[in-house]
Amino acid sequence: MKAIVLDQFGSIDNLQLKEVPVPVAGAGELLIKIENAAVNPYDLKVIEVYKEQSGVSLPVIPGSELSGVVVATGEGVTKFKEGDAVCGNPGRFGGGFAQYITTHQDWMAKKPASLSFETAAAIPVASLIAWKALFDEGKLTAGQKVLIHGASGNVGGMAVQEAKQAGAYVIATGSGKNEQRVKALGADVFIDYTKQDFSTAVKEVDVVLDTVGGKMQTDSFKVLKEGGYLISLIEAPSKELATQYKVHAKVVYGGPNANRLEQILLDAAGGKIKAPVDRVFALSDAVAALKAVKQAHPSGKILLRP
Ligand SMILES: NC(=O)c1ccc[n+]([C@@H]2O[C@H](COP(=O)([O-])OP(=O)(O)OC[C@H]3O[C@@H](n4cnc5c(N)ncnc54)[C@H](OP(=O)(O)O)[C@@H]3O)[C@@H](O)[C@H]2O)c1
Repeated sequence: MKAIVLDQFGSIDNLQLKEVPVPVAGAGELLIKIENAAVNPYDLKVIEVYKEQSGVSLPVIPGSELSGVVVATGEGVTKFKEGDAVCGNPGRFGGGFAQYITTHQDWMAKKPASLSFETAAAIPVASLIAWKALFDEGKLTAGQKVLIHGASGNVGGMAVQEAKQAGAYVIATGSGKNEQRVKALGADVFIDYTKQDFSTAVKEVDVVLDTVGGKMQTDSFKVLKEGGYLISLIEAPSKELATQYKVHAKVVYGGPNANRLEQILLDAAGGKIKAPVDRVFALSDAVAALKAVKQAHPSGKILLRP
């Protein structure tokens, strides 16, 4: 099969299109023919920033979010059969920038027939981490006020929709050109971070979702209510600031959750959740796709089509 292989950390230019063996489904695993793989900032970070510290061993095929069709099943598989359309996060780094992948049946969710493979590949990572951050960790409930940074991004856009549907009052940050798009997703207030300092415009927030880090994270302490939650997807917040402002603050990481994903996919199939796709690149153009993700101002998910 064709796959994009990384032999050396440091640069996305080290990626090469290669011919490699089709993997074999082990016990409990599915062999999936990939229809679309999503390209995420995490792929870039592992290749260029975390490198050896990521714990990923080389050579590796990046890509940890996909949709496709089950073409073979390993021993003991009970949840899926050949021909089933699925999507999800394979529960480890990598494997998605290829024509086929194996993954454990527990990490995949059934794709509703009315959702395209492109939309299905755009949903798992962003929707699951947004849900985990807002509700599992941030304890967000109806009537509370949430501030979502990077609301024009893939995770932020999912978070806006999930928070709004849960009955929260949603304040969103992003660049001005994205205001209408983010408001259409459900934001009550939009703050253009290129023009306005959110930390002087907002107060008494119950939950902050930080998808940006740095100063946006440290300034976020100032807008929280006592007892509020600052949940970062980027870096561990300062313990000293958390104590000073009397708030909960932590960094959280995502992973597969097939049961929750199936619910979110049904919401997407019913039109309650939108997962826009920015562009679809050929597998052989993976480096160009990663460059597009690196620009960090997408208007939806960047996908590959093997
Ligand atoms: N912890 C985890 O498990 C986990 C899971 C998923 C994602 N993440 C991380 O979360 C981050 C967002 O992921 P994503 O997929 O949503 O990325 P994305 O779709 O590329 O979105 C990036 C967002 O960041 C905003 N942005 C870019 N530069 C900015 C700046 N200088 N100041 C403020 N905002 C800025 C963009 O807003 P405008 O375009 O409107 O300027 C855009 O909304 C990434 O760093 C990713 O690695 C972590």
